[in-house]
Amino acid sequence: MVYLNGDFIPKHQASISVMDRGFLFGDGVYEVIPVYAGKIFRLNEHLQRLQNSLDSIQVSNPYSNEQWLDILQKILNFSSKSNQSLYLQITRGADSCRKHSFESLSPTVFVESNSLTPKTKAELKVGFGAIIQTDFRWQRCDIKSTSLLANIMYSQQAKHHQVEEVILHREQTITEGATSNVFAIKDNTLFTHPTGTHILSGITRDLVLESAKHCNLNIQESAPTLAELLAADEVWISSSTREVMPITHVDQQPINNGKIGNHWSNVYDHYQNLKHA
Ligand code: PDD
Repeated sequence: MVYLNGDFIPKHQASISVMDRGFLFGDGVYEVIPVYAGKIFRLNEHLQRLQNSLDSIQVSNPYSNEQWLDILQKILNFSSKSNQSLYLQITRGADSCRKHSFESLSPTVFVESNSLTPKTKAELKVGFGAIIQTDFRWQRCDIKSTSLLANIMYSQQAKHHQVEEVILHREQTITEGATSNVFAIKDNTLFTHPTGTHILSGITRDLVLESAKHCNLNIQESAPTLAELLAADEVWISSSTREVMPITHVDQQPINNGKIGNHWSNVYDHYQNLKHA
């Protein structure tokens, strides 16, 4: 079952207008929210980021936080799975003709939920590969936009190279991953790109920083260079569906001889505590 514009309906019955600006232009925003043991994780933070995205594109939020909670809870209740990943999307809505500029329209709201099976620590401990690409995305990566052509192209390259992620840089400065935030750890200090318009401010990123502080790492919200990333003791990526993952090979070069770091292990454990707190 999915939620579409006020109705809870079977997915195969859900349809939208071909004039929907989400379909025509990718004119919309979204959120992906993990649910652990039936509890929506960091809901307020996700709803705040959704509000920021909507404000940036001048779409008014169709629901209050209480109404969102009610819809999300109802969608979750259709499934017996205790760990789920909620997807919610708001597009500007359907117009009568295709034009780039917009009128005030009635937004299209879609919500679905899928089961979520995060990798176990043992599965993560094998380490993962990444490749490096120049970041050719736009200058408003802080908006969680459904226009994801660049990210799709990168993800397909990752698939082609059989690696977990594409790590992006702007003029040698590491921004983030195609679908994640990126961290480099060197001599007890964690480096990551500051929030702003060049990255998506990940909810998991904040949780990783909280966990890293708890594990006595120094936090430097300054972006590592590509050379610093390659020379790091540890490299991690984070997202709501992958949590915090160790990257052990970048462009086939091993990070720290391809070994999993202790800091990752400690931060991973603390992150698990936060999930179940
Ligand atoms: N993507 N940066 C980018 C470009 C992302 O697409 C994502 C997550 C993140 C991490 O954000 P968060 O920790 O809030 O999940 C950073 C989601 C999972 C997606 O597009 O499916």
